Amino acid sequence: MLKTMHSVAVGSAAAVLLVTAFTLPGASAAGNDTARHGGMGHSAAPQSLGDLGRKAGVRIGTAVDTTALAEDAPYRARAAGEFSSVTAENVMKWGAVEPQRGTYDWAAADRLVGFAKKNGQLVRGHTLVWHNQLPAWLDEDDVTLAELRKILHRHITDQVTHFKGRIWQWDVVNEAFDDDGTLRDSIWLRKLGPGYIADAFRWAHEADPKARLFINDYNIEGVNAKSTALYELVGTLRKQHVPVHGVGIQGHLAVQYGAPHDIADNMLRFDRLGLGTAITEADVRIPLPADSTEYEAQAEGYGVLLRGCLLTPGCDDLTVWGFTDTYSWVPDTFPGEGAANIFDENYAPKPACSTLRQTLTLAAGRR
Ligand code: XIL
Repeated sequence: MLKTMHSVAVGSAAAVLLVTAFTLPGASAAGNDTARHGGMGHSAAPQSLGDLGRKAGVRIGTAVDTTALAEDAPYRARAAGEFSSVTAENVMKWGAVEPQRGTYDWAAADRLVGFAKKNGQLVRGHTLVWHNQLPAWLDEDDVTLAELRKILHRHITDQVTHFKGRIWQWDVVNEAFDDDGTLRDSIWLRKLGPGYIADAFRWAHEADPKARLFINDYNIEGVNAKSTALYELVGTLRKQHVPVHGVGIQGHLAVQYGAPHDIADNMLRFDRLGLGTAITEADVRIPLPADSTEYEAQAEGYGVLLRGCLLTPGCDDLTVWGFTDTYSWVPDTFPGEGAANIFDENYAPKPACSTLRQTLTLAAGRR
């Protein structure tokens, strides 16, 4: 299962069989179909990724572009129907929630949290402390160490308090490391020193003791200098009783670099520390134009991420960073690359979508 494309193809046949076996002719789309027809929900529709995930013991989430959510009905229907958790792609970032100092704007984030509640989805909060998308008023040269510490404390306290009881997992600290395993040279490290990380977790925990608190980063899928540095940091934080509960592995892959086949080794070492894990921002970009071999490689990338999660007992969520290429962040950030999501611009599922469905189908009832 883990390494060959062949077994994925076998899984494909199994998935098709399962879906057809449960699709009863003439069944109505009434809500009580779920009970009568073995949990398939609406009669002819295949089970959603969220439903398949539920049976496999993992949430399948998506980052949500809240502008698309408001304006694009097909997008909204899929965001509601296909996933069991959501993450705000941008609207919970500091620059979005506090555009003027002391003036909060929670409206877009609140709408997303309301949408999730209505659809029975959990919310991943993203993100409290990051070096990007900070408000313009936060100017490093203008603040003393003591002021900046107060500003950060207040930001975390106000934001976590605002959403108290409504956020499942918070990405408290995002992208704190460089790829060589040293701490990133950010406003936070420069002014406050490495202790800002423990402080951020303690302050978030005080504001919502029930939220699960994550440290989140990219290029930490496999075992490497960065993931090892993070592993050492969270080990130390745990010994110091800092309330860090999980590690978020972003999962931004690119077909030209191959898939991180040692992901389970990496995730299991965090698991053994007693930490939860999640794949928080999965996408697999392709140099454009994409061809069918690259779509297969992309499917393999998504499959490796999902299998890493399923093989790790404490991994309870795989979130894709958007589900349609229409709104992907990739073309703007990586010129010449794109097609990174599991549905294309017309919501046609790619091989990656089938791989997720097949893998979840095969994992049903196993954890
Ligand atoms: C990205 C969003 O997708 C873009 O819309 C935005 O312009 C920049 O940020 N790692 C993260 C995410 O933790 O917050 C980033 O999201 C993608 C990389």
